[in-house]
Amino acid sequence: MIDFQLDGMLGFTQGGRKLSEELDVTRPRVAAAVERLARGGEMLGWAGLPLDEKTAVEIAVWVSSLPRSVTSAVVLGIGGSSLGPKALYTACHYPMPLLDGWRPDGARRLYFLDNSDPETVAAVLGHLDIASTLFFVVTKSGATAETASQLMIAWERARAALGERAAGSFVFVTDPEKGDLRALARELKVRAFPLPPDVGGRFSVLSPVGLLPAAVAGISPVALLRGAAAMRARCLDTAVERNPAALLGAGAYLLDTVFGRKVHVLMPYADRLADVGAWFVQLWAESLGKRRGNAGVGPTPVDARGATDQHSVLQLFKEGPPDKFVMFVDVRARRALEIPAVFGAYDSFAYLGGHEVGELIRSERIGTQRSLALAGTPTVTIELEEVTPGRVAALLYLLEAATAIAGFLYGVNPFDQPGVEESKRFTCALMGRPGYERYREAAGAGAPAGGPTIRVDC
Ligand code: PA5
Repeated sequence: MIDFQLDGMLGFTQGGRKLSEELDVTRPRVAAAVERLARGGEMLGWAGLPLDEKTAVEIAVWVSSLPRSVTSAVVLGIGGSSLGPKALYTACHYPMPLLDGWRPDGARRLYFLDNSDPETVAAVLGHLDIASTLFFVVTKSGATAETASQLMIAWERARAALGERAAGSFVFVTDPEKGDLRALARELKVRAFPLPPDVGGRFSVLSPVGLLPAAVAGISPVALLRGAAAMRARCLDTAVERNPAALLGAGAYLLDTVFGRKVHVLMPYADRLADVGAWFVQLWAESLGKRRGNAGVGPTPVDARGATDQHSVLQLFKEGPPDKFVMFVDVRARRALEIPAVFGAYDSFAYLGGHEVGELIRSERIGTQRSLALAGTPTVTIELEEVTPGRVAALLYLLEAATAIAGFLYGVNPFDQPGVEESKRFTCALMGRPGYERYREAAGAGAPAGGPTIRVDC
């Protein structure tokens, strides 16, 4: 069960205008956006992924054939090829990413290289026993420089350690036909799972991109899809008032464009959902931040964590510019942990004794929400009964569907990323890739030295 509490958004008023009335005016466009989502086509393949249990079963069978000697796996990928699997892993296996020696039954540890920072790449690859490690190479285009470089380093190390058997330590996820990684899979005889052509990177978490690392870590891919399928049914409902994705997508769009609420904060009150925040930021920013005509549109997403950020950015949210919309994510059933009734002679401690820590964090979320409401900030709360694989997948699907609906309302293509592609071309130009020479100048190669640099010796 996931509860979606909307009163803090639907009841929002500002300058005499009511969000609920703006929503009534926009309702036909919102319904048309949901119909477009339900119709499919375009790059909407992700919307049907929860129904693809065949792939989930195929992945589960393949994972069950892995030798027990494989105890960890590394995801080589970036952006949508990394943030989704990381969000699933952290949510379902917390606190495994935090505690080195802790491992639930049947779970394998996952590592995410993500960035092309030599510190991380060298440390992780140097730390792992190559013989007991599986490498997932995830790239839709098959050409992203960060991922390509990580693959090249990992491959050389695996070859040095395992010789001809190195290919058995690699699994690729990429386009079924196109791209150099697909061709390399054929040449090296590496097992390669397809990422459907109509599923973009940041919408790929329920494809093999997310399901495969999850299954290797011991999280059921079928459970993930079933949870998302239940949410899908609600997100494709053209009765807008029953559709949480339509209400969230339309509400966010109106809050930005009509009420000037341009900063959209996702604030989970659970450490295990922290990486959902990072995943959401990419999804919202890369999908909605677009050029439309001569102007740029799109809200700025921010990822905050309760209760930690109550002692940080909350000050800005409450008293800074009135341009925020805060989406809380809370969890109802939490691990039991009672605060012992000690130090009763002191007021600062006495009131806490005998309460659950889960009760404390819930009170902090409710208190923050009330405090923001008093400051006139619109909010919604998405409350998970408990964090399970199915509910996490349902939450991710809800946010994907809300993103698509918002994108249609903004009148942008939520599935492309021309700004990101340009930076990839500049990287290729600067790294000397043939065919990219014409981007060298724009990328700053050969720019005269001696700009306004301030150097401080320290
Ligand atoms: O959402 C997107 O399309 C991007 O963030 C990509 O996932 C990211 O740039 C990595 O691309 P690729 O999967 O082609 O390596």
